[in-house]
Amino acid sequence: MCQAGAIGWSGHFANNAQWRMIPGMSTSYGHFDDARREYVITRPDTPMPWLNYLGSDEYFGLCTNTGGGYTFWRDAKLRRITRYRYNNSPLDTGARALYIKDDSGLWAPMWKPVRAKLDRYECRHGMGYSTITGAKGGTEVETTLFIPPGENVEIWRLTVRNTAKTRRRIQVFPYVEFCLFEALNDMTNYQRTYSIGEVEVEDGAVYHKTEYRERRSHYALFASTRKPQGFDTSRDAFVGVHEGMHDAKAPSAGACTGSVAHGWNPVGAFQHDLELAPGAEETFSILLAYIDNGDLPKFDAPFVMNKVKGRALIAKYSRKGAVDAAFAKLHAHWGGLLGTFQADSPDSEVNRMANVWNQYQCMATFNLSRSASLYETGIGRGMGYRDSNQDLLGFMHMIPERARQRILDIAATQLSDGTCYHQYQPLTKKGNAEIGGDFYDDHLWLILSTCAYIKETGDRGILDEQIGYADKAGSKHTLLHHLETSIAYTLKQRGPHGLPLIGHADWNDCLNLNCFSTEPNQSFQTAGDVKGSKAESVMIAGLFLYATRELAGLYDWMGKKAAAKRLRGNWADMKKVVETAGWDGEWFVRAYDAAGKPVGSKVCKEGKIFIESQAWCVLGGAGAEDGRARQALESVHKHLYTSDGIVLQTPPYATYHKELGEVSSYPPGYKENAGIFSHNNTWIHLAWCEQGEGDRALEYYRSICPAAHQDRHDTYRAEPYVYAQMIAGRDSANPGEAKNSWLTGTAAWTFVVVSQGILGIRPDYPQGLEGLHGQAHLPRRDLRDHGEEYRRLGLRHHARDGRRQGHGRRRGAGVQGRHEAPRRGRAALAGLRPSPRLIMGVAPLAGCCCRGCATAPRVLTGSDFADFDLAGQSRYPQGL
Ligand code: GLC
Ligand code: GLC
Repeated sequence: MCQAGAIGWSGHFANNAQWRMIPGMSTSYGHFDDARREYVITRPDTPMPWLNYLGSDEYFGLCTNTGGGYTFWRDAKLRRITRYRYNNSPLDTGARALYIKDDSGLWAPMWKPVRAKLDRYECRHGMGYSTITGAKGGTEVETTLFIPPGENVEIWRLTVRNTAKTRRRIQVFPYVEFCLFEALNDMTNYQRTYSIGEVEVEDGAVYHKTEYRERRSHYALFASTRKPQGFDTSRDAFVGVHEGMHDAKAPSAGACTGSVAHGWNPVGAFQHDLELAPGAEETFSILLAYIDNGDLPKFDAPFVMNKVKGRALIAKYSRKGAVDAAFAKLHAHWGGLLGTFQADSPDSEVNRMANVWNQYQCMATFNLSRSASLYETGIGRGMGYRDSNQDLLGFMHMIPERARQRILDIAATQLSDGTCYHQYQPLTKKGNAEIGGDFYDDHLWLILSTCAYIKETGDRGILDEQIGYADKAGSKHTLLHHLETSIAYTLKQRGPHGLPLIGHADWNDCLNLNCFSTEPNQSFQTAGDVKGSKAESVMIAGLFLYATRELAGLYDWMGKKAAAKRLRGNWADMKKVVETAGWDGEWFVRAYDAAGKPVGSKVCKEGKIFIESQAWCVLGGAGAEDGRARQALESVHKHLYTSDGIVLQTPPYATYHKELGEVSSYPPGYKENAGIFSHNNTWIHLAWCEQGEGDRALEYYRSICPAAHQDRHDTYRAEPYVYAQMIAGRDSANPGEAKNSWLTGTAAWTFVVVSQGILGIRPDYPQGLEGLHGQAHLPRRDLRDHGEEYRRLGLRHHARDGRRQGHGRRRGAGVQGRHEAPRRGRAALAGLRPSPRLIMGVAPLAGCCCRGCATAPRVLTGSDFADFDLAGQSRYPQGL
């Protein structure tokens, strides 16, 4: 597959020509396979474990490139199926393992946990599955791990090949370590957990049923579709007490012991003895399921659990073709989701992120919020109010009906005065009392998500949904009432300059101007007495400007003129405040602290200029007429922009300031203390788009886009196919090193940047022929070099069902950003579906970079389109 290339890495695999890269296409750890929507990792010792997710409904698995990670049902804290030791050394071993014992000894085809030198290794992370292939001494094992849509079973489809010239005996030992369901208890309360573990074994399948006799009606099942020659369920028996995962006892000895766990650490392990002729292969599957017996009789006999559902599941997947059919269903599922938005642009990195990986990451944030990743342990925070509202922006086009429900769930955690629970638990949908509210940006994000949702779907009916306020049991108010309550709350909560108060923090969780914490164990967010404090946030003021304009636009569309006018009045008043008290001379101030001193001003010694207030004040329309908006962005460029992204503020805080809080607790260059916080970079990208600066927007976009930095893996370290929350900034000890990948608001916002800002595909309230409209902000370079390509290919959306909605007309040069979006009728609310779209003819005006483009965006009418068949023009395969 690969050709030799100069990649200069050493170690286990250095002499293996097969693993070298195709020059120009790949780097030392892997490359994109765009046609298959996969990232191909070509050596196992990546700088950090590189993660993928399995599952799309209720059952999820984390799966790294060496098969690490754990599985859970809905809630990674309360229903964890397998055990994972975070921050262990070595990292990322435990929950799953697959051992091979053959004439070359004990080894692992996913490399870990044995880490024996492999002859060949490849991991393909795809949409909802990972295929990991390892070969050694004439045996090749290909493992595809996935969770079929709608099912609570993780499948490992194994193909074992004998590539040697002789008939050989190959033993296969799959293994999982069970978590006793409640993950926090499981990792802290050994005086109890060492005595409660229970299993049953029936027909070679392992049923993990700890606590089943009491309040639980669920169990975990580990089974094989091929009858095993042996099993183990005690970790001490299979791994050993003093042995490690790398030299586990049973597979080293080539025999399971038939152990039945009583207490201690229940595991599931099988021994499969294969005999394969030269060139022969055998395929079978391992199943890891979560099963709830619900109302079924609990027991078949005293102490014998009712296993009827488990048996049925094993039977189902043991049928010929069943696993392959489930895998095909997974492909279809993702093909459908991603089919809603596909764009062809001349920039292949933009394409692969926007069309595949970015949307895929957005779905991960929908499914998991901030709960379970390699950085979020699954036992920590629930769903964030502001985070979830922002995440919505990235997936509402794929799953509008679920987005709708999410908006209503979020709104139900708002309190009647306008503030909100900062977090809520997905299982109960109730606000978390420990964290409470008083983050004075939270409520405004609901306006952004709701307006974006209505623009996307035309579903105005959502505004009339009756939702209560969390502090008033049984109350019912429309969603629109919640939006108005949010506006009123900000108007009411204002400080000495007329700017909104900040409360515990605004978007920047670490700007805690009221906490004055000096106790090491306090939470910066909730410590301290905020009562009476007048610390103000310019960022919230900017967000308020944006939110009032959004809501006024919604009212325009609804024909509510007086309400729109009232909001524009609120906007104008706040804008005045921002342009006076919020302006520092060359940029917008960030905040005023509890003593009324500015934060993020030239008068400060450290933290002179911050990103967030520049972004939101500009996006909200402040300084638009007199050039200040542009000046603020130029100041960002001058003081904060680096080739790795925009640092959050500068200069970093060298010491702790108790009047500023957590922001000054991080070492310089990390996190909110002058790290590159990718999430808020995106707002600046959008602001540049609004200034018509496609070049800048794309340059900035690429600075944090991991796909655009395939040469930096050793520095960047995190996965090259998803965004990371934070990249260490220029003031840190290791600039350019990423952390906290996957579950970050960056996913949604980069999708907004690329789809709406750079490519200009912008949903708006449906009018006339219901439609999107937009204005692309394409970079000059691309327009010059690829103008013809844009003209020819346009940007293409196609329907979820894969059928082309081939309507459109190529218009000559001079057309820019024309988009058709035939939307489902607003009446057809039942069965919300994504709008099938066709985006055509993003062609530049001669010599234009969109600044001063003559053609303003407008909604298209039927006469703009004649039939135009795009078949065959896509560079994208339709296969998946
Ligand atoms: C994290 C939080 C988010 C916050 C951001 C900045 O990403 O999840 O709510 O806005 O940090 O502090
Ligand atoms: C945000 C920040 C993080 C901080 C947390 C507070 O997520 O990114 O640094 O610790 O908020 O809970």
